[in-house]
Amino acid sequence: MEKLFISCALPYANGPCHLGHLRSTYIPADIYARYNRMNNVDTVMVCATDEHGTPIAVRAEQENKSPKDITDVYHELIGNDLKSCNISLDSFRRTTDKKHYEFAQEFFLELYNKGYIYKKDIEQLYCEECQRSLPDRYVEGLCPYCESEARGDQCEVCGHHLNPIELKEPQCLICNGTPVVQESQQYYFKLHEFQDQLGDWINNNEHLPKNVKNFAKEWVNEGLEDWVMSRDMKWGVPIPLEDAEGKVLYVWGEAFIGYQSSAATWAEEHGLDWKQYWDDKTVHFIGKDIIYHHTIFWPSMLMGREWNLPYSVVGGGYLSLEGRKMSTSKGWVIWVKDFLDKFDSDLLRYYMVINAPLDKDTDFSWDDFQRRINNELTDILGNFVHRTFTFTHKFFDGKIPEKGQFDDMDMEFLKIIEELPDKVANDIDTFKFRDGLQEIMTTCKYANKYFNDKKPWKAVKEDINSAKNCLYLSNQLVHTLAIVLNPYLPEATQKIRDILNMPVEDVEGFMKFENRSPLVEWNESKKLLDEGYEIKKAKPLFKKIEDKTIQEQKDKLYATLKDEEEEDDNMSDKISIDEFAKVDLMVGQIKEAEKIEGSKKLLKVQVDLGEEIRQVVAGLAERYEPEELVDRKVIVVANLQPAKLFGVESNGMLLATDSMELLTTEGNVGEHIR
Ligand code: 2FM
Ligand code: ZN
Repeated sequence: MEKLFISCALPYANGPCHLGHLRSTYIPADIYARYNRMNNVDTVMVCATDEHGTPIAVRAEQENKSPKDITDVYHELIGNDLKSCNISLDSFRRTTDKKHYEFAQEFFLELYNKGYIYKKDIEQLYCEECQRSLPDRYVEGLCPYCESEARGDQCEVCGHHLNPIELKEPQCLICNGTPVVQESQQYYFKLHEFQDQLGDWINNNEHLPKNVKNFAKEWVNEGLEDWVMSRDMKWGVPIPLEDAEGKVLYVWGEAFIGYQSSAATWAEEHGLDWKQYWDDKTVHFIGKDIIYHHTIFWPSMLMGREWNLPYSVVGGGYLSLEGRKMSTSKGWVIWVKDFLDKFDSDLLRYYMVINAPLDKDTDFSWDDFQRRINNELTDILGNFVHRTFTFTHKFFDGKIPEKGQFDDMDMEFLKIIEELPDKVANDIDTFKFRDGLQEIMTTCKYANKYFNDKKPWKAVKEDINSAKNCLYLSNQLVHTLAIVLNPYLPEATQKIRDILNMPVEDVEGFMKFENRSPLVEWNESKKLLDEGYEIKKAKPLFKKIEDKTIQEQKDKLYATLKDEEEEDDNMSDKISIDEFAKVDLMVGQIKEAEKIEGSKKLLKVQVDLGEEIRQVVAGLAERYEPEELVDRKVIVVANLQPAKLFGVESNGMLLATDSMELLTTEGNVGEHIR
């Protein structure tokens, strides 16, 4: 039997899932898995939580916890999110599993023994205070390209990938100290050796979606540099070499292997061989932000190991929210759990697929969600199924009527029904999930028009043959829908199947071995129900979403924006009276002033504060000659932390305007200003 290995990108175990994750990765992967299982493809769909990496390690230190404390919590939450959206994973493991460590270390050693990994001295940041090196996100500073505040690995403002030593004014995130540059030895992967082979694979792989292919081609053409695969830190998979004490694999050097270790754990439990699935056909579902990793790093690691390359890599676009970029830190986000507390998972699956082609970025908007559910899912699909069932009961005793002579309209409708399964199949096979769902919806729209034109409620009295044909054919379409819609809307299709007296299954499927063999095969969608076949009573499939419900959701979301605006107001230009009271302003008199050697701007000034003479370094040299300043009564910030400027100690600040006009006063020396 043909085998298929489906992987979903491993979510970092430091936050729950939001709608963007489901849209780009998990819903498409699940559609593909369900469809393939219905076609008797022996499918395994795997995922795991990605539990290493500096963001989790830094957070743990800041919260005074172990990283594992954090990932335990999120592994559970993420699992629940995926389960509640009916993502039918066969295996959901963790990169902290023992099996994963074994797999990752073995992979590294294989590449090392084949000569694809070498040691190299590099410069990296080291914090003397904490006595440790500072990889990636252990450091923050200013981006060398745009001067914005940036983390050690990337600037979110201009998007540049960074090496921590490039940061200006770097700061250790643990102690806020200034790190120093230190030589160290790291392990590098010979990425450049795979340049040509990768180029061939990308150019000749006709299953790669266009967006993925275009990105990948461009990167390969730009030329590939070797890739540093190790980090000096404790949290991670240790490098399995004797002289690599204190070094772990870079999180991206082992995360991919989580696909395989997750599958291997599952296979072992069930007496199967994961590698057979891998070798037959592997498809990776990911978000578009990690296309580089999956088309450059991972395939070259696989080439180094001489293992089968993926059949395809499907990269879903970004999801914005009500026209704005999602931001988990600002609360501009919809968490899967919050959503599914209010709405059925099929509604989310429908909206996220129909909304835009997978490879395009798109937006989630509450109004648009309501519109599509009410006007499309309920009015078009739900309505057609419901009227078919209701009329079958009302006029034909709940049995499919026998057909008579077909007229042109019937013939055309039959043709459309018969063509639907192959069209949808072709779309799903080529990862055009939205096209498949649109085919289905267009057919339902057509079906409603057919039903309206045939007017069976009238025909029953005037032309019984026509009414019978209409209900005969409408039931055939409903039966086809009960199958082809299954990958998209597993819950709703079970409801239809139940009414159709077809086998009904537990759709949740999360880690349930028995659900790998669905009860209904795809090809049954092409069979026709017999005349006289009995169906159950109709029940509505979907409910319309009320305005009030949408308004509540919008209010909740927009409230975060208000909080943020208020916070911004508070933060940007207003301080509290208490904050102001902390500043100790005093009247002082300048006694001496002199230039500081090597500086055009700075003067060293001695100020009399009554009880003491203070030394202050002031940036006034371009405006005043030192002697002009002597005897002036000035305002001094007296409680500023000491600093060294040009090697000269400064204990305070003189107030001056932007144009360096010194503020003077008639007050008495030594007085505090209130
Ligand atoms: O970008 C991310 O969220 C990563 N945790 C994805 C890893 S996917 C794979 F390589 F495991
Ligand atoms: Zn430090």
